[in-house]
Amino acid sequence: MLTRIVNGRIWKDGNILEKDILIEDEKILDLIRKGQKVQVDRILDAKGALILPGLVDAHTHLRDSRISYKEDFVSGTSAAVAGGFTVVLDMPNTEPPITSPERLEDRIASARKKILCDVGFYAMPLYMDKIEDLVRTGCIGFKIYTHKSFEEINFFEDETIDKLFKAVEKTGLTLSIHAEDPSKIGYLGEKYNAIEHARAHSIEAEVNMIKRILNLAKKYNLKIRFCHISTAEGIKIVAGEKRYSLNYFTEVTPAHLTLDESILHKYDKICVVEPPIRGKEDVIFLRKMFWNGVIDIIGTDHAPHTLDEKLCDRPAPGFPGLETAVPVLFTLAKKGFIPFSKLIESLTSNPARIFNLNGYGAIDKDNVSNLTFLKFVPEYEIDSSKFYSKAKFTPFKGFKAETIVTRTIVRGETVYDRESGVIDERRGKVIKH
Ligand code: DOR
Ligand code: ZN
Ligand code: ZN
Repeated sequence: MLTRIVNGRIWKDGNILEKDILIEDEKILDLIRKGQKVQVDRILDAKGALILPGLVDAHTHLRDSRISYKEDFVSGTSAAVAGGFTVVLDMPNTEPPITSPERLEDRIASARKKILCDVGFYAMPLYMDKIEDLVRTGCIGFKIYTHKSFEEINFFEDETIDKLFKAVEKTGLTLSIHAEDPSKIGYLGEKYNAIEHARAHSIEAEVNMIKRILNLAKKYNLKIRFCHISTAEGIKIVAGEKRYSLNYFTEVTPAHLTLDESILHKYDKICVVEPPIRGKEDVIFLRKMFWNGVIDIIGTDHAPHTLDEKLCDRPAPGFPGLETAVPVLFTLAKKGFIPFSKLIESLTSNPARIFNLNGYGAIDKDNVSNLTFLKFVPEYEIDSSKFYSKAKFTPFKGFKAETIVTRTIVRGETVYDRESGVIDERRGKVIKH
């Protein structure tokens, strides 16, 4: 099937091209002059939209399996395409966590017929003797949490982290790290609110763990991606090391780039997240680092829970992010708070390069025909009741956005458009490293 996309403005390597796109099934065939004669099977009208390479979210918790009540492959990838994402990389802290090749195999098999966009899967490298087999099974990278145990194993001590670095270095895959030093996290009792939670998950916890990781990583040639950096001090330290090494990558979330602690007073437990929402100075500094080219990836950290789990005495950390990322981030860019072209790179070419997603992240000949259409519109308020995610709440409630996703194309077919909503075509494929 040969399709011609007309009336779009195409984002290509930092330029906006007034051209048409030819796609043949799952591939981009060519960019052609407007008006150039070509025999095609159908014409798709972009109606003046800005056409980006299909967005990639390198930080999604799709859940499913035993915690499908929070989110499952269908609802999670529906939220993805409604939010303009055509690829998501799924985090391994599922129930049970993805710690063995068998579990990874099962997860991949179960996802296959349910995903509306392309999905890659991280694995959790708890057992050194399983790392190679996890790679063989096709994990896209590894992810660890430094502040929590899984299956009674943790990475609290330098010695264990060092062993892990040695083992992951051999694989050549990227190690993603949730960096919080548990010895610097305050005690949270049986009952706490967002402010108490944020105080416990101190700035020092993040900064200390980043320092420890960088210190240990020196010996190795290991690619490390620091997930959701939330503090000025934390990103400053990584920025310093990035001047001497190409091995370190930074990720920031839309929430940490937008919201400050005043939101904790407003929406309280809904906002609980790890790492927490910080002060205004941190938000401003993260934005500055974005302008300076220090931020490689924007990850949504889409972390759905039920409303009960959020509003109880010990609120679960995290909130959905796939359907708010584009409206929030492109509005910030439009208002001049964050750099427009770096924003696009952080959602397309950068994650594609860092995770070796060949064929993704750019509108190039022979690449996968994944595309995201955006439009700037008059102000409207974000409304979580319309989410496709099962988690219908957000700390961005009432945020005045000026950007919408008008269409999402996965492998040559529309899976979301503004008028019809999500079109339940499960065209997504599993991406392996
Ligand atoms: O806020 C968070 N939510 N931080 C994490 O590290 C985990 C995540 C989740 O899976 O809910
Ligand atoms: Zn995390
Ligand atoms: Zn996460």
